[in-house]
Amino acid sequence: MPSLLKNRVARRLLRPAANLVDRRVQRPVSSLRSELDSVRREVAELRAQEHAIGLLFDHAGRSGPRLPTREQIDRLVTEVAEVSGAERAAARRNVTVAFRNVIALEALAVGRLAGSTQNVCGKLAAVPLLAPPNAQVLEIGTLYGLFSATLLRMLHRAGIEPELTVVDPLVGSQLQPGGLEGLDPTGTPVRVDVVRANLALGGAAGERARIEVGFSGDPQVRAAVSDREYGVIIIDGDHSARGVAEDLEWAEKIAAPGAIVVLDDYGDNKWAGVQEGADAHLAGDSRFEMLGRAATSAFLRAVR
Ligand SMILES: C[S@@+](CC[C@H](N)C(=O)[O-])C[C@H]1O[C@@H](n2cnc3c(N)ncnc32)[C@H](O)[C@@H]1O
Repeated sequence: MPSLLKNRVARRLLRPAANLVDRRVQRPVSSLRSELDSVRREVAELRAQEHAIGLLFDHAGRSGPRLPTREQIDRLVTEVAEVSGAERAAARRNVTVAFRNVIALEALAVGRLAGSTQNVCGKLAAVPLLAPPNAQVLEIGTLYGLFSATLLRMLHRAGIEPELTVVDPLVGSQLQPGGLEGLDPTGTPVRVDVVRANLALGGAAGERARIEVGFSGDPQVRAAVSDREYGVIIIDGDHSARGVAEDLEWAEKIAAPGAIVVLDDYGDNKWAGVQEGADAHLAGDSRFEMLGRAATSAFLRAVR
């Protein structure tokens, strides 16, 4: 072959074929280059968009990122359907609507919602599906009041015109076993005016809401709040085993028959006291029956 290529006649004879091969090789290379350029442009555009989307959904100024994966949402839908006994389609609708509300309200809020996206959306989606027996809602431990505001909207969507009472010492920061939590990612103080501003995002029911400033164990708080039976009680205050057990003991007295009790952070390793206190309480003589869990919340029903 090398000797053939050195032969001038042979080279001349082979030139047309060689040119054809060259053209065939060059055409794909140039079209590959232009495809690569257009992919590069698309990636740059997507990165710019992703950055802007990140500003809406990332962790800055809140509990964590609000970017659940498809798998996380699918798992949550399954859990909400199981705990509520609702159709999967209804569970998916509520999880989706809850997510939209979380994004919308947190964007406008003074402060933040506490907890992971799955945990917050699980509670918001499941409570209306569990058909509470009346419209009275009590949240023990409200922080910025934003969870309650969002829950009011979810209940209203389900045809319930809710009445809300929240209890929290509102001492400027989040209070937990071991003292005050460190600097909040929002930089917003935990105060009554802030809670009021957030409750207004829950509509007319939020504006009418009762805010009882104090601890759930304070006699004057209990006297003021125990004036009615509640269809929904959210327990999310003192996360120690003792604090949770005491809130459950109080809830036994003020829950309407058929009421839903949500135990936030049940099974969350960071707050081991919640499960410890709840399991100890439920092992005794209780009106509450465990319905199940969604994310890191447990749902109970007052069976009598
Ligand atoms: C985890 S945060 C509540 C988050 C809120 N429920 C939400 O979902 O956005 C707990 C709140 O309970 C308050 N707290 C602590 N001990 C309490 C008690 N004994 N009674 C009422 N609230 C309490 C804390 O100061 C804090 O504001």
